[in-house]
Amino acid sequence: MSRIIIINGPNLNLLGVREKGIYGDQRFETYFERLRAQVAGVELSYFQSNHEGAIIDKIHEVGFSDDGIVLNAGAYTHTSLAIADAIAAVTTPVVEVHISNVYAREPYRHHSYLAKNCKGVICGFGLDGYRLAVESLLTK
Ligand code: DQA
Repeated sequence: MSRIIIINGPNLNLLGVREKGIYGDQRFETYFERLRAQVAGVELSYFQSNHEGAIIDKIHEVGFSDDGIVLNAGAYTHTSLAIADAIAAVTTPVVEVHISNVYAREPYRHHSYLAKNCKGVICGFGLDGYRLAVESLLTK
């Protein structure tokens, strides 16, 4: 059975509460339970942290054993060389996800430090982007 983890970064614990016009009104936990049921045959887990170091620790912890990482690093996407280095350091493929279409937003959201070290990037499809990312990791 494939093991895939979804890692959400800062402020994504407030999905369903935060800026609903951009991120929607669904709590991530509710969406995650539905997704887990949809992707039977995958051992899907979830981790969220508002702290850069904790995200890096989690990437190190799972990045040599899990089959895939789905990473929405939130604003750290646009700032964090340290998370970029963590992705480069591990062997597990990482797919970068954004709920919103970051290219239709402020220019400072157009650059990702992480994308270059990722298998691919999915953005602008709302929460469904997480499912698309899981599917892409299951497709060899
Ligand atoms: C986000 C986009 C980022 O620019 C922003 O800082 C977030 C969420 C997204 O999922 O659309 O926190 O990663």
